[in-house]
Amino acid sequence: MWFLVNFLVFPLLFLHTFSLGVEMNDIYNCTILRENFGISVSQFTLCAISNSHPIKLCESCIDQYINVGESYTNLSKFKDDKDFCISHYINLDRLGIVSNMYENVYNLWNNAKCYECYEVINSVLTHNLSQETIEFLKLYNRTQKCIGKYPKTMCDFCMDPYLKLNNYYYSISNENDKIGMCMDIVDLMNTTRTEWSEKCCKYRKHSEYAFIGSSVGIMIVTILFYVLTKVFIDKKSTKIVTQHRFVESLSSSNRRDNN
Ligand SMILES: *[C@@H]1O[C@H](CO)[C@@H](O)[C@H](O)[C@H]1NC(C)=O
Ligand SMILES: *[C@@H]1O[C@H](CO)[C@@H](O)[C@H](O)[C@H]1NC(C)=O
Ligand SMILES: *[C@@H]1O[C@H](CO)[C@@H](O)[C@H](O)[C@H]1NC(C)=O
Repeated sequence: MWFLVNFLVFPLLFLHTFSLGVEMNDIYNCTILRENFGISVSQFTLCAISNSHPIKLCESCIDQYINVGESYTNLSKFKDDKDFCISHYINLDRLGIVSNMYENVYNLWNNAKCYECYEVINSVLTHNLSQETIEFLKLYNRTQKCIGKYPKTMCDFCMDPYLKLNNYYYSISNENDKIGMCMDIVDLMNTTRTEWSEKCCKYRKHSEYAFIGSSVGIMIVTILFYVLTKVFIDKKSTKIVTQHRFVESLSSSNRRDNN
């Protein structure tokens, strides 16, 4: 997948080096193109922040993301009488605001693996959902519908769709990565799992409590048994000792009498 990602970014970053450039027409000049880029970055930023919880970055911000790429490409494509517009704004200082902003947008989108939510055809991001996303959403909606229908008995009735969803998620996500799949999907699955374990692992807790309770009960009965037995035996042996002494004293008095 990483080669795809590289293909997606490098053409944009170095396009101006290879393209012949498009002469500026009446509508565009470099200032306007730079402003367009700034507007597209701020629109993407607003969208990303607005969709940060629950995470709907990939679903909601794809248009804004594509716009950032396009306006950056435009900066690289158009030239004024001196040079390509982009060369007025990059590699001029160490801060590199324009390229930094572009990379931030690019990194956020790709760290979230949003490209896995969509079809990428010839290294071009499309609006079409990927097969994995379609299948996941189908199973997800089925599970949610079931939970909505049986809110009280979901743990019994919705176990089957939930397990199918969970298994499918396992099959498409890379558990070795910190973010194993398109982040929107990771977040949906995480919320579903949390909801499920909160509601449906209570039963296990109940039976754990029952187990601990009965263990403690058995322990108390056992201790009680030993304590009572000890008390009983002690009493009995006291009696025996008393009797023994009694017999002894009897016999000794007999002896004394005989003497
Ligand atoms: C670019 O175009 C805008 C509007 O067409 C104009 O106001 C601005 O002065 C132009 N900038 C340059 C550097 O030509
Ligand atoms: C990029 O330039 C094209 C014209 O070549 C224009 O149609 C398009 O809207 C521009 N894209 C952005 C995001 O500014
Ligand atoms: C899943 O949700 C929990 C609790 O909200 C959070 O701590 C955890 O980081 C989330 N996991 C992922 C992969 O986002």
